[in-house]
Amino acid sequence: MNTASNTNSGWTPDSWRSAPLAHGVEYPDRQAVALAEKQLRELPPLVTSWEIERLRGFLAEAEEGKRFVLQGGDCAETLADCKASTITSKLKILLQMSLVLVHGLKKPVVRVGRFAGQYAKPRSSATETREVGGSKVTLPSYFGDLFNSAEFTAEARRPDPALMVRGYKHAALTLNFIRALIDGGFADLHHPEYWDLSFFHHASLSEQVRAEYRRMTDNLADGLRFMEALGEKTVDDLTRVEFFTSHEGLSLEYESAQTRTVPRREGHYNLSTHFPWIGERTRSLTGAHAEFFRGIRNPIGVKIGPKATPAEVIALCEKLNPLNERGRLALICRMGKPSVAQALPPIVEAVHSAGKRVLWMCDPMHGNQITTSSGIKTRSFDAILGELEETCRVHARLGTVLGGVHFELTGEDVTECIGGGAGVTEADLSSNYASPCDPRLNYQQALEMAFLLSRALSKSR
Ligand code: PEP
Ligand code: CO
Repeated sequence: MNTASNTNSGWTPDSWRSAPLAHGVEYPDRQAVALAEKQLRELPPLVTSWEIERLRGFLAEAEEGKRFVLQGGDCAETLADCKASTITSKLKILLQMSLVLVHGLKKPVVRVGRFAGQYAKPRSSATETREVGGSKVTLPSYFGDLFNSAEFTAEARRPDPALMVRGYKHAALTLNFIRALIDGGFADLHHPEYWDLSFFHHASLSEQVRAEYRRMTDNLADGLRFMEALGEKTVDDLTRVEFFTSHEGLSLEYESAQTRTVPRREGHYNLSTHFPWIGERTRSLTGAHAEFFRGIRNPIGVKIGPKATPAEVIALCEKLNPLNERGRLALICRMGKPSVAQALPPIVEAVHSAGKRVLWMCDPMHGNQITTSSGIKTRSFDAILGELEETCRVHARLGTVLGGVHFELTGEDVTECIGGGAGVTEADLSSNYASPCDPRLNYQQALEMAFLLSRALSKSR
């Protein structure tokens, strides 16, 4: 029985409006905001409640170590990137990574994209100052394509509520293409030989890693056919390709306008995405985001950084998952390599001993940001891998389950993160730095990371 309504006292899709709103954007024209919200309320949903419930079931199994969640995509999706080639290459890298993980972990992998709505970004400063024509100009920061545009002009940076409706439409176009590709058999796991996994043969990896990788690709197709021949029950699960969507639910105007009841189910669903999450900067217990998220039926994530205290995390669990339901709450920890060994264990121990049901995920990207001497934001492959490896060790030691990972990545050949077998150096960063926000793993770095993660997870079991 769904008892959501018993615990949602005082909650409505709009109750967040009377709580303090962190990282809210000041729209100059409130009437235009109301109009955009009205349009969003009337447009059809992007996802359905039964897809959301299906994901919730998978996440419940991931909590118990029966599945593994791979979540990834751009830091900031842009409207301009709503193109067949970009979407296809994002799907392809997520599929290939999931294949590596399926093979290494021998369990089904749940694929969740940071796409079809990852258009809103919290920024450390509300304004940005640049030198233009010899004088300093201060404009609102770029908050993502859902709010304003990246170009440094007063017009582009003015928050425009009509962008919420454009964002919704681009999310719909993205999803439509993804659904068509999946239905058309784009990603049949029985044909990994078509997937161009060959770069490892010439990447500068150690001979041992290369040999392991070669073995894996050689065995994969045969392995699946063999399991199928044996009538393995799980083979369908292992090979069925499904994608779920997720994004940071930063714009509560956008999220609440697409939150509604559906026939024959209790409670409200946020139908803009399957799996929204609250960012590290907006997860205050008394803030508007926690208020909005506590009442929706979707599975939800919360980012947890190194400054979070165990008591704060427990309080978040109680507020966001008062009935302690399976598959409801993912804690996406992003401690940073230097802090993870110290900061993660007390939180995991406290949550575990309080009996709180959560899906432990690791985001090894957001705690590992550095700025080069020439002012470019980057992340090192080694720090990202190091945080993942340490997180695996922490969970192994405490007897808890690391059930998923969260990456910023792209299927394109960008140069935003340093390191990896393909050897992107600091000097290469400017050659193809395309992210309007945080640096992403490129295609080769992401695939290599999946492989090394699969080794780290297997070792810690
Ligand atoms: C993000 O995921 O892009 C992000 C801003 O993360 P965090 O909230 O963890 O800083
Ligand atoms: Co980011």
